[in-house]
Amino acid sequence: MDFIDLRQPDDWHLHLRDGAALAQTVAASASWAARAIVMPNLKPPVTTTALARSYRDRILAARPEGSNFEPLMTLYLTDNTAAEEIDRAVDSGFVHGVKLYPSGATTNSDHGVSDLAHCEAVLERMAERGLPLLIHGEVTDAEVDIFDRERVFVERTLGPLVERHPELRVVVEHITTHDAASFVRESPARVAATITPQHLLVNRNAMLVGGIRPHYYCLPILKRERDRQALVEAATSGDPSFFLGTDSAPHAVGAKESDCGCAGCFTALNALELYAEAFDAVGALDRLEAFASEFGPRFYGLPLNEGRVRLERATQTVAASMPFGELEVRPFRAGETLAFRRAGS
Ligand code: NCD
Ligand code: ZN
Repeated sequence: MDFIDLRQPDDWHLHLRDGAALAQTVAASASWAARAIVMPNLKPPVTTTALARSYRDRILAARPEGSNFEPLMTLYLTDNTAAEEIDRAVDSGFVHGVKLYPSGATTNSDHGVSDLAHCEAVLERMAERGLPLLIHGEVTDAEVDIFDRERVFVERTLGPLVERHPELRVVVEHITTHDAASFVRESPARVAATITPQHLLVNRNAMLVGGIRPHYYCLPILKRERDRQALVEAATSGDPSFFLGTDSAPHAVGAKESDCGCAGCFTALNALELYAEAFDAVGALDRLEAFASEFGPRFYGLPLNEGRVRLERATQTVAASMPFGELEVRPFRAGETLAFRRAGS
């Protein structure tokens, strides 16, 4: 097979950042995705429908000429989010989820939830109104090893949460472990997960063997080979609970290559090619379209895209760096060769 045609995909987990960087981040995603769930972890975070409206306007203004890229906005859940905010969000028509960051779990999560007990009324309203809860699934307790934080979250927090709210729709974002994949597979259809390209392609050796590679550092952190294999199995299984979410999370080169480097891989530009490589490696390219273009919209109750994209089996070299506002960002696998490329790119 020299090429594969797909219904146009969407990205169900994306960090676009803000300000001058939007010109580059929006163009990168709009080059292949029709829509994206836009994460709200700005500084300050997008906690209200009013803030989401103005962020959405800035994203729309940054679209390349002629682009119909549609940002699907999210709210950042805090200990103080009011149930009425959920009504405003749903009634807006442009807010499609609420993001739960356990306080301190990742980039700009200081305003996140300290204890879910503060959020029960909001979660009940979300369940009533059908607004999904998008979860960064890691505990933040200092005594829990960073490689165990997702597994412990699944046992301690996610399981009970899903039982306590039997109507709540949940997306476990960027799953990284065998444990999270099993949990989602065994849960009812209202519980889904996104999977990133990096967690399908590499394990923690890529980040730590032969030198420390900050551009492979993201959260949740890369895990073992056994976990990677479980994620590939989930993504290529045809189970509609698993769909594409890049978690593309650009940071300027200086913020990554530093004494205390930021978490996040910038995959937005070549994400589709990266996913194709992961699916092709297990002979499952025929399953890519459903994962990339069908299961996400079905979960979110949105129409499938009408457009098409074509991936060719032809090599391309990833740019060494890209502009990022006034700074630079290093794409994931910068300077390396990819096995696929988008036709026309
Ligand atoms: C994300 C970011 O930089 O905003 N970083 C990451 O490593 N994924 C935050 C997140 O999704 O955890
Ligand atoms: Zn993210």
